[in-house]
Parts: sequence; C-alpha cells; structure tokens
Amino acid sequence: MKSFSSLALTLSLLAQSNASSLIPRQQKNPAWSVSNFNSLITFGDSYTDESRLGYFISHNGSAPPPGTLLPESFATAGGGRTWPRYVVQYTGSTVNGGWDPQMTLYNYAVSGAVCSNEITPRWLPSINNNFPSVLEYEVPAFQADLVSPRINATPPEPYFTPPLTAASAVYALWIGTNDLGVWAFITDSQIPGKVLSDYTSCVYDVFDGLYASGGRMFVLMNTAPLHLAPLYANASAHGVGPNQYWADKPSNLTEIAETMHEYTSTVNNVFKYQTPFEALVAKRYPGAQFALMDMYSLISDIYDDPTAYLNGTDVTSWMYDNHCNVNQTVCVKSDNGTNPDGFLWYDELHPSEQTDRVIARNFVQVLNGTSKYATYY
Ligand SMILES: *[C@@H]1O[C@H](CO)[C@@H](O)[C@H](O)[C@H]1NC(C)=O
Ligand SMILES: *[C@@H]1O[C@H](CO)[C@@H](O)[C@H](O)[C@H]1NC(C)=O
Ligand SMILES: *[C@@H]1O[C@H](CO)[C@@H](O)[C@H](O)[C@H]1NC(C)=O
Ligand SMILES: *[C@@H]1O[C@H](CO)[C@@H](O)[C@H](O)[C@H]1NC(C)=O
Ligand SMILES: *[C@@H]1O[C@H](CO)[C@@H](O)[C@H](O)[C@H]1NC(C)=O
Ligand SMILES: *[C@@H]1O[C@H](CO)[C@@H](O)[C@H](O)[C@H]1NC(C)=O
Ligand SMILES: *[C@@H]1O[C@H](CO)[C@@H](O)[C@H](O)[C@H]1NC(C)=O
Repeated sequence: MKSFSSLALTLSLLAQSNASSLIPRQQKNPAWSVSNFNSLITFGDSYTDESRLGYFISHNGSAPPPGTLLPESFATAGGGRTWPRYVVQYTGSTVNGGWDPQMTLYNYAVSGAVCSNEITPRWLPSINNNFPSVLEYEVPAFQADLVSPRINATPPEPYFTPPLTAASAVYALWIGTNDLGVWAFITDSQIPGKVLSDYTSCVYDVFDGLYASGGRMFVLMNTAPLHLAPLYANASAHGVGPNQYWADKPSNLTEIAETMHEYTSTVNNVFKYQTPFEALVAKRYPGAQFALMDMYSLISDIYDDPTAYLNGTDVTSWMYDNHCNVNQTVCVKSDNGTNPDGFLWYDELHPSEQTDRVIARNFVQVLNGTSKYATYY
C-alpha cells in the first residue's frame, strides 16, 4: 500500500510538473531565450562534426591538444557547412559592415562517434584506434579545455572567452546514428550483452559530466528517422545495396529498415519519458533546463514535404547527391553538383547542407523557447 501511494504521489507530481512545462505549441518557454547565449557547445558524430575527426586523421590518431579551437569547415560529411555553424550565422549580425557573431561554437563532435566505446566500439584503421566516443573522449576533451589557455591567442586568454556561465552556455548532444547502425547494434557488433538501454543510459551519463562541469542549459536531440536514409531504407523507399558505408550489406532491405525503425522509435520513446523523469522526478540535474528536440519529426516532415524545406532546382526527399563506389575511390555528384540544395540526403547516410540549414533554423527556435519540435523540462 505504502509503495503504491508513493508511486501514485510521484505520478501525480510528475503530471502536475508536466502540465506546467507542456506549454502550448509556439508559446514561449520563459526559461529559454536565444539572446541569453554566447557559447554553443556541441557533442555528437558526423551529423555535427566540423573538423575534429579530420584532426585525428591528419595527426596520426592524436587528439587536438587542450586549448585548440578547431577551424570552420565548408566540406563536412554533409557536403557543406554543418548545422551548428549555421546556428552561429543565424544568430549573428552585421554591424557597421563587420560580422558580429553572438555565439562562439565549441564543437566536440567527432565523425563516426558513438556515445560510449564500452558499448559499441567501432574501429578506424587510419587512426589505429576506435572512433573517439562522446563519453570517453568528447566530454573529457571539453573538461580539459575548461582549464586551458587558448592556443595561439595573443594576448593570452582562457580557452572559453567570454567565460562559460550557467545561463550563457548551451550544450547540445546529438548521438545515436552510429550506435544504432552499421558495426554497432544493427549488425549485432555491440560488446556482447550490451542492449539499447545501455546506449540511452550513456546519454544521461554524458549530461552528468556536463552538469558537473557547470552546464545547466541542455538540448538533447533525438535520433533521426534512419529507416528513411538510403543506407537503411527498404526497397520501396529506395534503400541502397552494398555501398561505401556498408560494403557487405545483406540483401534483405526490409529486415534492415524494420529493425532500424524499431531501434530509433524505441530509443526516442525512452528519451521522451526518461528526460522528464531524470529532470523532474529523480532531480538528477537540479537547476538545469532541458529541451528535447525532436529530430525524428523534423526530418520526417522534410521527407514528407520536401518542397517546403529544400530549395534546389530539382527537389527530392529520397535520392541523394553524392554517389561513391564501394571503396570510395570514385565519387560523382548528381547533376554534376549543380543541385546540392535539392536533396534531403547528401549521401547514403548524411543530411545535406540545406537540411542542416533547416535544422539550424529550428535549433534557434529551440534556444528561443518557441520551437514546435521541442519539449521543455
Ligand atoms: C603513428 O602512431 C602509431 C601508433 O598509433 C605509431 O606506431 C607510429 O610510429 C606513428 N607514426 C608517426 C609517423 O608518428
Ligand atoms: C518501406 O518503408 C516506407 C517508409 O518507412 C514504408 O512506408 C513502407 O510501408 C515500407 N514498405 C514495405 C514494403 O515495407
Ligand atoms: C526479409 O526479411 C523480412 C523481415 O525479416 C522477412 O519477412 C522476409 O521473408 C525476408 N525476405 C527474404 C526474401 O528473405
Ligand atoms: C537555399 O536557401 C539557403 C538559405 O536558407 C540559401 O543560402 C541557398 O543559397 C539556397 N539555395 C538555392 C539553390 O537557392
Ligand atoms: C574499388 O571498387 C571498384 C568497383 O567499384 C573496383 O573496380 C576497384 O578495383 C576497387 N579498387 C580497390 C583499390 O579496391
Ligand atoms: C557533366 O559535365 C560533363 C563535363 O563537364 C558533361 O560531359 C556532362 O554531360 C555533364 N552531365 C550532366 C548530367 O549535366
Ligand atoms: C525570440 O523570441 C522573442 C520573443 O518571443 C522574439 O521577439 C524574437 O524575435 C525571437 N528570436 C528569434 C531569433 O526567433
């Protein structure tokens, strides 16, 4: 009886606090305002990486030393600039003819990363190591930068300038594409005994680390509808056979698409219920604010109505722009590269630059407390 009533009390408290945080769509969430933020700190994989994996590859597997501010890239895995760089562009302004960014981007995402290499390690021969992961590499790299001077800064200054504060720094995590994908869960390549909830638990462990380092404003981006990406789609949704990312891909595309759909839907439902549970019931991160950004719905909306979001000369949601052979020795762009903004997907796996612009526009609304794709806790 006692445990039942305390469960009922907990549930009714959850319902109350949910009711107050589940604001009507489009109405502004008062805890969030884009003008508050001057530092955007991102964690994730190739969907977010600008140049960090490139640094590892060009330095024989060594990580950038603490204090290194990595450069902008115009040729990321999505074919152009990546979404957090567009967030910087969309929130900055031109003042007296000069570019005046509101935010500095500190991007810890590494192409190929998973949440934890204790769950789904993936080997990268060119760095003679596993792809660096969020929990074991990206978060510690951020923490090392917190106590480092900025390399090559004259006059000398701390790496984070202006300094990070609880209100002015926002942290975004978008991870799962590789964890659920090839050479991880979908090929049963996880460390034996590891399950999907080990991956979702890892996501909250990442926020533990960021919280311990002073982070309070968090955006968790859920997993994309990967069963719509050519790499994982079924035959009628134009899935591809063996390719640069999956050379020995099995022939039953239905099985792959259905399994991937189950994985993304399941982990996204965990995020939907565990995020308010950790924030509001367990009080795991006192004083922190969460925005859960529904990437699954945003990218599905683009897929279902591509002309509303894509602006190339010829718009398609299922074709992709960059076609490489299996061993990546030859790559050819559709329409000779004249239509990059017409595609949702740049290649078999990655959203295009125009999709990244759409993501960035919506991310700005998330930071402003006004996104229909966000739920705030
Ligand atoms: C590159 O790193 C490997 C270890 O991962 C080492 O054996 C090798 O000597 C390094 N090569 C150079 C040129 O530093
Ligand atoms: C293929 O995938 C699409 C998109 O998820 C779905 O609507 C369709 O029912 C699937 N077709 C088959 C034959 O499984
Ligand atoms: C492909 O996989 C699906 C789902 O597992 C199964 O129903 C179907 O029979 C398989 N098709 C072939 C040709 O093996
Ligand atoms: C599509 O829109 C973006 C702005 O969102 C713009 O930068 C880009 O040049 C446009 N592309 C084309 C082909 O017009
Ligand atoms: C790469 O793949 C092509 C076929 O797509 C093949 O002709 C070629 O020999 C391969 N090259 C290497 C270096 O494996
Ligand atoms: C692409 O460009 C090449 C040479 O520049 C040309 O021969 C070819 O016809 C073009 N293809 C398309 C589809 O425009
Ligand atoms: C953020 O919200 C405020 C108030 O609702 C609004 O005035 C402002 O234009 C919004 N900013 C952006 C970038 O959407």
